[in-house]
Amino acid sequence: MVDVTIRVNGQARSLDIPPQVSLLDALRERFGLTGPKKGCDQGACGACTVLADGERINSCLALAVQYDGREITTIEGVDDPLQTAFVRNDGLQCGYCTPGQICSALGMLAEYKDGAPSAVTEPDADPGELTEEEIRERMSGNLCRCGAYNGIVKAIQETAA
Ligand code: FES
Repeated sequence: MVDVTIRVNGQARSLDIPPQVSLLDALRERFGLTGPKKGCDQGACGACTVLADGERINSCLALAVQYDGREITTIEGVDDPLQTAFVRNDGLQCGYCTPGQICSALGMLAEYKDGAPSAVTEPDADPGELTEEEIRERMSGNLCRCGAYNGIVKAIQETAA
Protein backbone atom coordinates (compact mmCIF):
# COMPACT_ATOMS: atom_id res chain seq x y z
CA MET A 1 0.00 0.00 0.00
CA VAL A 2 1.10 3.54 -0.73
CA ASP A 3 0.04 6.74 0.99
CA VAL A 4 -0.81 9.49 -1.46
CA THR A 5 -2.41 12.89 -1.16
CA ILE A 6 -4.01 14.27 -4.29
CA ARG A 7 -5.71 17.65 -4.59
CA VAL A 8 -9.03 16.86 -6.23
CA ASN A 9 -11.20 19.76 -7.33
CA GLY A 10 -9.36 22.03 -4.92
CA GLN A 11 -9.51 19.76 -1.90
CA ALA A 12 -6.63 17.65 -0.52
CA ARG A 13 -7.68 13.98 -0.41
CA SER A 14 -5.55 11.25 1.15
CA LEU A 15 -5.52 7.61 0.14
CA ASP A 16 -3.77 4.44 1.17
CA ILE A 17 -3.86 2.34 -1.98
CA PRO A 18 -2.15 -0.47 -3.84
CA PRO A 19 0.29 0.98 -6.40
CA GLN A 20 -1.50 -0.59 -9.37
CA VAL A 21 -4.81 1.29 -8.85
CA SER A 22 -5.57 3.60 -11.75
CA LEU A 23 -6.36 7.24 -11.19
CA LEU A 24 -9.77 6.59 -12.75
CA ASP A 25 -10.60 3.85 -10.25
CA ALA A 26 -9.33 5.97 -7.36
CA LEU A 27 -11.51 8.90 -8.42
CA ARG A 28 -14.61 6.82 -8.98
CA GLU A 29 -14.37 4.18 -6.28
CA ARG A 30 -12.43 5.88 -3.49
CA PHE A 31 -13.59 9.47 -3.90
CA GLY A 32 -17.06 8.80 -5.31
CA LEU A 33 -16.44 11.08 -8.28
CA THR A 34 -18.31 9.28 -11.05
CA GLY A 35 -18.08 12.08 -13.62
CA PRO A 36 -15.02 10.51 -15.27
CA LYS A 37 -16.39 7.46 -17.07
CA LYS A 38 -14.88 4.05 -17.72
CA GLY A 39 -15.43 3.34 -21.39
CA CYS A 40 -12.62 1.26 -22.89
CA ASP A 41 -10.24 1.35 -19.88
CA GLN A 42 -7.33 1.28 -22.32
CA GLY A 43 -6.78 4.83 -23.53
CA ALA A 44 -8.87 4.66 -26.68
CA CYS A 45 -12.15 6.52 -26.01
CA GLY A 46 -11.42 9.56 -23.83
CA ALA A 47 -14.46 9.06 -21.56
CA CYS A 48 -12.18 9.11 -18.51
CA THR A 49 -10.47 12.42 -19.36
CA VAL A 50 -9.62 14.68 -16.42
CA LEU A 51 -7.25 17.61 -16.01
CA ALA A 52 -3.95 17.08 -14.20
CA ASP A 53 -2.46 20.47 -13.33
CA GLY A 54 -4.53 21.80 -16.23
CA GLU A 55 -3.41 19.22 -18.80
CA ARG A 56 -5.84 16.64 -20.13
CA ILE A 57 -5.04 13.02 -19.41
CA ASN A 58 -6.74 9.68 -19.80
CA SER A 59 -7.16 8.76 -16.15
CA CYS A 60 -7.58 5.05 -17.00
CA LEU A 61 -3.94 4.97 -18.16
CA ALA A 62 -2.58 6.81 -15.11
CA LEU A 63 -1.72 5.32 -11.76
CA ALA A 64 -3.11 7.20 -8.79
CA VAL A 65 0.28 7.07 -7.04
CA GLN A 66 1.80 9.10 -9.89
CA TYR A 67 -0.38 12.02 -8.91
CA ASP A 68 0.72 12.38 -5.32
CA GLY A 69 0.83 16.12 -4.60
CA ARG A 70 -0.75 17.04 -7.95
CA GLU A 71 -3.99 18.84 -8.75
CA ILE A 72 -6.71 16.85 -10.49
CA THR A 73 -9.86 18.45 -11.87
CA THR A 74 -12.82 16.29 -12.78
CA ILE A 75 -16.07 17.47 -14.33
CA GLU A 76 -17.45 17.87 -10.79
CA GLY A 77 -14.93 20.69 -10.30
CA VAL A 78 -15.61 22.45 -13.60
CA ASP A 79 -17.74 25.59 -13.83
CA ASP A 80 -17.22 26.98 -17.30
CA PRO A 81 -19.30 28.59 -20.08
CA LEU A 82 -18.33 25.62 -22.27
CA GLN A 83 -20.84 23.50 -20.34
CA THR A 84 -23.81 25.68 -21.28
CA ALA A 85 -22.42 25.92 -24.83
CA PHE A 86 -22.63 22.10 -25.04
CA VAL A 87 -26.27 22.26 -23.99
CA ARG A 88 -27.11 25.16 -26.32
CA ASN A 89 -25.53 23.42 -29.33
CA ASP A 90 -26.82 19.89 -28.66
CA GLY A 91 -23.26 18.68 -28.06
CA LEU A 92 -24.52 15.50 -26.45
CA GLN A 93 -27.16 12.84 -26.71
CA CYS A 94 -26.80 10.11 -24.07
CA GLY A 95 -24.22 12.18 -22.17
CA TYR A 96 -21.84 9.35 -21.29
CA CYS A 97 -18.87 10.90 -23.06
CA THR A 98 -19.72 14.49 -22.07
CA PRO A 99 -17.60 14.84 -18.88
CA GLY A 100 -14.57 13.62 -20.80
CA GLN A 101 -15.39 15.76 -23.82
CA ILE A 102 -15.64 18.90 -21.69
CA CYS A 103 -12.48 18.23 -19.67
CA SER A 104 -10.65 17.41 -22.89
CA ALA A 105 -11.93 20.54 -24.62
CA LEU A 106 -10.81 22.74 -21.71
CA GLY A 107 -7.34 21.19 -21.82
CA MET A 108 -7.29 21.50 -25.61
CA LEU A 109 -8.26 25.19 -25.53
CA ALA A 110 -5.46 25.86 -23.03
CA GLU A 111 -2.97 23.98 -25.28
CA TYR A 112 -4.19 25.94 -28.28
CA LYS A 113 -3.83 29.27 -26.49
CA ASP A 114 -0.28 28.26 -25.52
CA GLY A 115 0.48 27.80 -29.23
CA ALA A 116 0.77 24.00 -29.29
CA PRO A 117 0.40 22.91 -32.93
CA SER A 118 -1.81 20.02 -34.04
CA ALA A 119 -1.39 17.60 -36.96
CA VAL A 120 -3.44 19.90 -39.19
CA THR A 121 -2.15 23.31 -38.12
CA GLU A 122 -1.29 25.42 -41.17
CA PRO A 123 2.03 27.25 -40.72
CA ASP A 124 0.37 30.58 -41.50
CA ALA A 125 -2.84 29.90 -39.54
CA ASP A 126 -4.48 32.83 -37.81
CA PRO A 127 -3.90 32.05 -34.10
CA GLY A 128 -7.23 33.73 -33.31
CA GLU A 129 -9.26 31.30 -35.37
CA LEU A 130 -9.80 27.74 -34.23
CA THR A 131 -11.18 26.00 -37.32
CA GLU A 132 -13.56 23.07 -37.38
CA GLU A 133 -10.78 20.90 -38.82
CA GLU A 134 -8.44 21.91 -36.01
CA ILE A 135 -11.04 21.16 -33.37
CA ARG A 136 -11.85 17.77 -34.87
CA GLU A 137 -8.15 16.87 -34.98
CA ARG A 138 -7.42 18.14 -31.48
CA MET A 139 -10.48 16.37 -30.06
CA SER A 140 -9.92 13.10 -31.95
CA GLY A 141 -9.07 11.25 -28.74
CA ASN A 142 -12.64 11.69 -27.46
CA LEU A 143 -15.22 9.44 -29.05
CA CYS A 144 -19.00 9.94 -29.02
CA ARG A 145 -21.02 6.86 -29.87
CA CYS A 146 -24.15 8.96 -30.45
CA GLY A 147 -22.32 10.99 -33.08
CA ALA A 148 -22.95 14.41 -31.53
CA TYR A 149 -19.73 15.68 -33.06
CA ASN A 150 -21.26 18.62 -34.96
CA GLY A 151 -22.72 20.07 -31.76
CA ILE A 152 -19.52 19.41 -29.84
CA VAL A 153 -17.47 21.25 -32.44
CA LYS A 154 -19.93 24.16 -32.52
CA ALA A 155 -19.89 24.44 -28.71
CA ILE A 156 -16.10 24.54 -28.64
CA GLN A 157 -15.93 27.01 -31.49
CA GLU A 158 -18.47 29.27 -29.80
CA THR A 159 -16.52 29.20 -26.53
CA ALA A 160 -13.16 29.75 -28.20
CA ALA A 161 -14.36 32.79 -30.17
FE1 FES B 1 -9.92 5.81 -20.52
FE2 FES B 1 -11.45 4.96 -22.57
S1 FES B 1 -11.80 4.74 -20.42
S2 FES B 1 -9.68 6.22 -22.65
